[in-house]
Amino acid sequence: MVKQILPNLSVKIGNLELKNPVMVASGTFGYASEFKDFIDLKKLGAIVTKTITLKPRQGNPTPRTCETPSGMLNSIGLENPGMEKFIQDKLPFLKKIGIPVIVSIAAEETPEEFAILVQKLDRLPEVAAIELNISCPNLAKTQLIAQDVKETLELVTLVRKLTNKCLITKLSPNVSSITQIALAAQLGGSDAVALINTLGGMSIDVHKRTPKLGAWVGGLSGPAIRPVAVKMVWEAYNKIKIPIIGMGGIIDIDSALEFFIAGAAAVSVGTANFVNPRASLEINVGLKEYMLANQLQNLTALIGRLKACKN
Ligand SMILES: Cc1cc2nc3c(=O)[nH]c(=O)nc-3n(C[C@H](O)[C@H](O)[C@H](O)COP(=O)(O)O)c2cc1C
Repeated sequence: MVKQILPNLSVKIGNLELKNPVMVASGTFGYASEFKDFIDLKKLGAIVTKTITLKPRQGNPTPRTCETPSGMLNSIGLENPGMEKFIQDKLPFLKKIGIPVIVSIAAEETPEEFAILVQKLDRLPEVAAIELNISCPNLAKTQLIAQDVKETLELVTLVRKLTNKCLITKLSPNVSSITQIALAAQLGGSDAVALINTLGGMSIDVHKRTPKLGAWVGGLSGPAIRPVAVKMVWEAYNKIKIPIIGMGGIIDIDSALEFFIAGAAAVSVGTANFVNPRASLEINVGLKEYMLANQLQNLTALIGRLKACKN
């Protein structure tokens, strides 16, 4: 009888070692304690926290979410307790889980806020990696850092000097060329890029003739954006050398596989957490089964292995 070799699901992103490549996306998993009664948190590849800013933020007016065809719109507006309270109240629980904690951060006004936040996190051994959220569509600003090549390069270069921790730059789909921005993040010294954040969107209540969101506009997520995300991962994979963390509408194993085959080294589950909190763990099991069935011993045999169509 031929002995089956169990597939190896581990992956390295910069100096960050993950036991498996399935993580949860920023803003859709709180600070993990919210999900402790639903899933075995230790089985996740990593946890990405809600984005934290220097000072506490109250977020946008309600309603902050609404359903859309195959997706949802949100305009949370980065509600969070601020970095000091996060470190004091949220980080101890995250540390106890025993898997890599990736802290997502954003600036409200100036890029220097990123520098201060990175310096604070750099001192904390329980923080495995830092995700630079330069792509949140729910701030009052009109232009995002992730919409400008020069600003992306400058920001990543600035914070790269301040930490040896794994740096992940989260990119926006609301751009004309994702590859130019991904290349800028790579050039600045980012260890990986995460894509995509939400797509700008709006929904209207036709009976009241009002926007459905209190902030009028928001970010679209869920299966509706998956083809956009897969295309952007594939485009970036063909241009950059650093790993890609893919996300956008992943709900099950087949949708996760699309991202790996397009070139993602790891994936994040976002909106699906609201519908099925077990989605990420089910994807992990499904990935093992797929790799076994296809005799893939490690993820390298899967990542970016897209074949041309045969007519
Ligand atoms: C309610 C909600 C809140 C979010 N908050 C954040 C956030 O704080 N920081 C961030 O980088 N992305 C945030 N996102 C974006 C997700 O992390 C993810 O990039 C996006 O939703 C696409 O993945 P999905 O379709 O699987 O949800 C949020 C998304 C949702 C739905």
